[in-house]
Amino acid sequence: MKHFLDISQLSVTQIEGLLSKAFELKKTRHFPSYPHRVLAHFFYENSTRTRVSFELAALNLDIKVINLEMQHSSEAKGEHLEDSVKNLAAMGIQYFVIRHSQNYIQEQLAERLQDEALHLINAGDGTHAHPSQALLDMMTIIEQKPKLSHLKVAIVGNVKHSRVANSFQLISAKMGLGELVLVAPEIWQPEKVHYGRVSSSLEEGLDGADVVMCLRVQRERLQQSEHLNLDEYRAHYALTKQALALAKPDAMVMHPGPMNRGIEIDSDVADGSQSFILTQVQNGIFARMAILDSLD
Ligand code: CP
Repeated sequence: MKHFLDISQLSVTQIEGLLSKAFELKKTRHFPSYPHRVLAHFFYENSTRTRVSFELAALNLDIKVINLEMQHSSEAKGEHLEDSVKNLAAMGIQYFVIRHSQNYIQEQLAERLQDEALHLINAGDGTHAHPSQALLDMMTIIEQKPKLSHLKVAIVGNVKHSRVANSFQLISAKMGLGELVLVAPEIWQPEKVHYGRVSSSLEEGLDGADVVMCLRVQRERLQQSEHLNLDEYRAHYALTKQALALAKPDAMVMHPGPMNRGIEIDSDVADGSQSFILTQVQNGIFARMAILDSLD
């Protein structure tokens, strides 16, 4: 695999290979070593989890890491991302982990740089895709509940603007997840569904669910016409203890982060015994190590 851009570009065998590698790395703690390689982070949007876990993943593989401070880079003087990447590749950097607000920017870059010996990794593009998050989410679910075809997963929240929900739908389709319900108020329902079905009802979505994945209310991505009264949103869609009781008693609670506590999720649920939110974060390091290890 040359680049890691979107779940849709991976075969089932490739996804299974990445998951199996991630589990092996987590279990054995025997990590391959790539001491002469270098990774550069290009983060045009804020990040805590993705950026740090790619950095830890690289360091665990003895890959050096360069963190570009975008406001101090030559892009602030008008240099194109493509030129920045080519210049750093000329200095001997092989891996480029890119997060950007523009949909498909990493795929477009891959097209333009197809003759270059470098690897592009999508760390999130606009509202389109967050494929490494999908991998770590799937890893976290399989670790607890391996019979995917028997599971009902509910994703709750701002599905329309969620790259996490998009990539999770794609990986669910490839891996044969039993049932996926995308629960959202009408205004935040997706125009295109890759897998599963949409519901406006939290009760119906959570009923008998094995996994409840709560999404962040992304205030920064909303158009004027898409704003909801947050009290109203909470009243109908917040993951409270009461709401969680609609799911199976052993239902897993997940959230990609960052969380808006007291808006889309209550603290007693986020920090409760059914929460796997910090396991997701931990698994992110192994999933991202598997991604880096697979690129050649
Ligand atoms: N899940 C996720 O992408 O978190 P960050 O924005 O902190 O990277």
